[in-house]
Amino acid sequence: MIPPSAQDQDDAERPADSAAGSSPASATDAPRRLTRRTVLGLGAAAAAVTAAGIIVPRLFANARIVAPTDPAVAATEQARHHTGRFVTRSLRAEPVVLDLGGREVRSWAYGGRLPGAPIRVGVGDELRVNLSSDLPAPTTIHWHGLALRNDMDGVPGLTTPQVEAGQVFEYAFTVPHPGTYWFHPHVGVQLDTGLYGALIVDDPNEPGAYDDEAVVVLDDWTDGWGESPDQLLERARRDGMGGMHGMGGMGGMGMGMPSVEQPLGPDTGEVRYPAHLINGRLPAAPYAITTSPGRRVRLRIINAGSDTAYRFAIGGHRLTVTHADGFPVEPVDVETLIIGMGERYDVVVTAGNGVFPIVAIPEGKPDPAAQALLRTSSGAGPADTRPAELGGRLLAYRDLIASPRAALATRKPDRQLKMTLTVADGGRRWLINGRSYDDHEPLPVNAGERVRLVITNQSMMFHPMHLHGHTFALVRPDGRGIRKDTVNVLPTQQLAVDLDADNPGQWLTHCHNVYHMELGMMTTLSYRT
Ligand code: C2O
Ligand code: CU
Repeated sequence: MIPPSAQDQDDAERPADSAAGSSPASATDAPRRLTRRTVLGLGAAAAAVTAAGIIVPRLFANARIVAPTDPAVAATEQARHHTGRFVTRSLRAEPVVLDLGGREVRSWAYGGRLPGAPIRVGVGDELRVNLSSDLPAPTTIHWHGLALRNDMDGVPGLTTPQVEAGQVFEYAFTVPHPGTYWFHPHVGVQLDTGLYGALIVDDPNEPGAYDDEAVVVLDDWTDGWGESPDQLLERARRDGMGGMHGMGGMGGMGMGMPSVEQPLGPDTGEVRYPAHLINGRLPAAPYAITTSPGRRVRLRIINAGSDTAYRFAIGGHRLTVTHADGFPVEPVDVETLIIGMGERYDVVVTAGNGVFPIVAIPEGKPDPAAQALLRTSSGAGPADTRPAELGGRLLAYRDLIASPRAALATRKPDRQLKMTLTVADGGRRWLINGRSYDDHEPLPVNAGERVRLVITNQSMMFHPMHLHGHTFALVRPDGRGIRKDTVNVLPTQQLAVDLDADNPGQWLTHCHNVYHMELGMMTTLSYRT
């Protein structure tokens, strides 16, 4: 992902402190990088004399990066509440043939299952996952949404080693907070294969006003059927992505802008997928939630797609939204909601009597829909696969208010950081602050600060922006902004999120469109001391 030669050149050309700060590999490689070549290459300007008269290379004197190996990372982990319980799992990433329900595809998955077997833990338990691999490429696991210890975050070259075929790596960390999360690799476009699964963290104190529960994982599918993810990426590198690139007034007033009919704007994604799945199943052989009339069912909806937002609804049912990205909100009733890549919603529905369609329509795409069933009686599936609820009350972020137990305490930001999202080279490069990841300027923070991120989208596509290791709060005047780790930033929109810098380390932040991300749309939130 990161050409080492480019970094080495950066080192030689930039002042020592910015070289250390700008290099994606600097955090993990700092000790190794203080080599003869580095020191000689930097010359006399790279050294500084401390008060004690000791000459130290400026690489260390000024960069002050909190690496994943920093004692502050271990100390923060030590301070986390630990129940004394351990949950141990093994995951094997391997090439498999998957049956999607009448169609077999060759892809990669965990343990031959799609999605991978869900992992369920209690908050404060220590999760230990042995990842082994049979893949022809290195891989990692990222625990999407968890504010976990930095060295277990699964980002190669930044936090955690890759696992090669035949190797094993043990992820071990205390699970910091309850809710609906998921796991996936953080290498290349592996996210667009079958490598994903749900991670559910239970809270013994959760009131839990529901009777049954189901995990509903949405995914856009092409691997082993249409073009492979690697082919799609290659094509995007060659031909670009996105119908209407950049700002520009092309096409007249309002073209490309969000509207009531197209809340994310008309250009929601480039890839046309041959199929969309719910829990790894095609509509022809749908996943079914079976329960009894009148029972309250909690659905944990996860968008594991790579280039597709979904409009979600259940025929004949209202959705009571109770959690966004794992954190509780004041319950809101809607009929439909849009869920961006990487986002999660928990909703409670009271099951009616019959067989009802659960649908996820690819937002702004002509692709076939994903479908599952809610079943409380025998009989055939519903004929209506486009329920009226899809056109009913649609959830908006502004409808959601953080539950008091999830709200971030009111505080004036100590630091404001800008993230400006742009596209370049006709959709071949997607950038943050004018740079792609291999050339990124880290966003510096100090532990203990309240940080405001101001995200400005200067492109005509929405970007589901995700931050690792933190759950930020959408800024609202009343201080009740919902907590999220992934937020859809609409075309030309500017939005602000606040976070407490309480989890030291080096954290990736990126667009969760896996193709945008691989075409550069990533940077780091970089703790300094
Ligand atoms: Cu879902 Cu950087 O991750
Ligand atoms: Cu994007």
